[in-house]
Amino acid sequence: MAIARVSIASSSTSSTASRAPVSVASRSRAFHARGGVAQTRARAARAPRASGEEGDDAPPPARPNPNQMLVIVPPHPLLKHWLAVARNVQTPGPIFRAALAEIGRILIYEAGREWLPTFEAQVQGPLAIADVEFVNPEKPVSVVPILRAGLTLLEESSSVLPASVTYHLGYVRDEETLQPKLYLNKLPEKFEEDAQVLISDPMLATGGTILAAVEEIISRGASPKNIRIICVVACPVSLTELSKRYPGLRVYAAMIDEHLNENGYIVPGLGDAGDRAFGT
Ligand code: URA
Repeated sequence: MAIARVSIASSSTSSTASRAPVSVASRSRAFHARGGVAQTRARAARAPRASGEEGDDAPPPARPNPNQMLVIVPPHPLLKHWLAVARNVQTPGPIFRAALAEIGRILIYEAGREWLPTFEAQVQGPLAIADVEFVNPEKPVSVVPILRAGLTLLEESSSVLPASVTYHLGYVRDEETLQPKLYLNKLPEKFEEDAQVLISDPMLATGGTILAAVEEIISRGASPKNIRIICVVACPVSLTELSKRYPGLRVYAAMIDEHLNENGYIVPGLGDAGDRAFGT
């Protein structure tokens, strides 16, 4: 089996993930124990420690390798809480949708870390002039929800991101070929090479749709190293494919579940996220 160049940073996988390919489980568990944030593959099993815990001879924390895909599962209790609400089959549609919106909000914060461009300025405060930083409104993040379910993760995006522009992408499964078929494409004709693109799709299952979406975005000039994906649950099979094709990409997930059933649904997963969110 080909080993994908994937690094997992932080947090957890569900219990079945210990059999997952792409070295997902052991690394992520190690991070879960210490709440690490981002590591390269080579040092993924070791999280940074609090200052003073290690001696002076401790190696510096590793930096993410730009040639590897990074998968980040933030170790946040609220993320776990809203995932638990979303997993529950008895959760009513509106609450399910609110849970996904909260998960989206947290993952957007995480994706924006050390990514959103800022500029320095000074403002007059009540007591003194303060040196400050603003997110640069001249560089809006290009937010790409994959319809339908991707909309749910972005419900809070306009209040989280000071500057963003939204381009919708819609895919439906072609029942003959079983391949994703593009039915709505609001992407710009061309992205600047340094355009920052945030894609949302709650379920990375077989990976067919997300791969098609990333390809579509890259074909318009965006670079994988400037693309970040937020999802609720990711399956190793989709992460493997993404990492083989697009090193440099980053994926932010609330959880990694190993199994796909014979219909391509993630188990335990969330069921059909679009149907649950929109009551269809
Ligand atoms: N899409 C969903 O909505 N759920 C899955 O489990 C897989 C794909």
